[in-house]
Amino acid sequence: MRTATPRRYLMCPPAHFRVTYSINPWMDPRKPVDPALALFQWEDLRDRYRGLGHTVEVLDALPDLPDMVFAANGATVVDGRVLGARFANPERTAEAPAHLAWFRARGYPDVREPDHVNEGEGDFAVTSSWLLAGQGFRSSPLAHDEAQEFFRRPVISLELTDPRYYHLDTALAVLDDTADEIMYYPGAFTPGSRAVLERLFPDALLATAADAAVLGLNAVSDGRNVLLPRAARGLRAPLRRRGFVPVAVDMSEFHKAGGSVKCCTLELRP
Ligand code: ARG
Repeated sequence: MRTATPRRYLMCPPAHFRVTYSINPWMDPRKPVDPALALFQWEDLRDRYRGLGHTVEVLDALPDLPDMVFAANGATVVDGRVLGARFANPERTAEAPAHLAWFRARGYPDVREPDHVNEGEGDFAVTSSWLLAGQGFRSSPLAHDEAQEFFRRPVISLELTDPRYYHLDTALAVLDDTADEIMYYPGAFTPGSRAVLERLFPDALLATAADAAVLGLNAVSDGRNVLLPRAARGLRAPLRRRGFVPVAVDMSEFHKAGGSVKCCTLELRP
């Protein structure tokens, strides 16, 4: 039997969410998003978290920042310490100060404006032993050292190779952060990084190419409930076999920008 622990999340409503530029292979500005449907899906995700007993804080969306809905990219919060983001693409640069301001206004004592490019939890994942850190498309490997020093946790650098899986959280999800239990798609990583994952996580749930291709790894777990995109059907049975409760949510509008459940959810770890 798995146990959920209460979480605190930060989300940003899709008030200005659109696909107006393309910085990853999922984004095609010719394919319009349906703003009303996007809002409906986002509110559904927020309400499911609240229904499961979690706290959802809200960061106001700013105009001209259509990707700001992907709150996970704006910071990384571990042990109450906040490492701000520094975006790789100019289209998203202005999101970083908005996040920093939010944390400072709430009195977080350790808020660091980073020296190196890192896209928050897009490329950082927290297990009980390690901070897993992606590189290859967005975050700089220099940001990995910066995070290790700041969070005082050992960082494991992982290199991504497939442009569809440009952030670590499109290819890997933490299922139980009191243990070192994860799921991932091996095809998104270089052979060396794959070998590292096999060594550290021999019992990991391995996703198929089909589940990865519908952003099935872009999931959020509270230790028991795993919220994941509805289309990732193949992951449900293996999650259930491990004692998790898969909760399927429809995030189709956000997939048009290359994001899903996890991208919309920044975890505020006390
Ligand atoms: N369009 C956004 C980008 O390419 C999507 C970000 C998705 N967020 C994530 N955590 N993977 O930057």
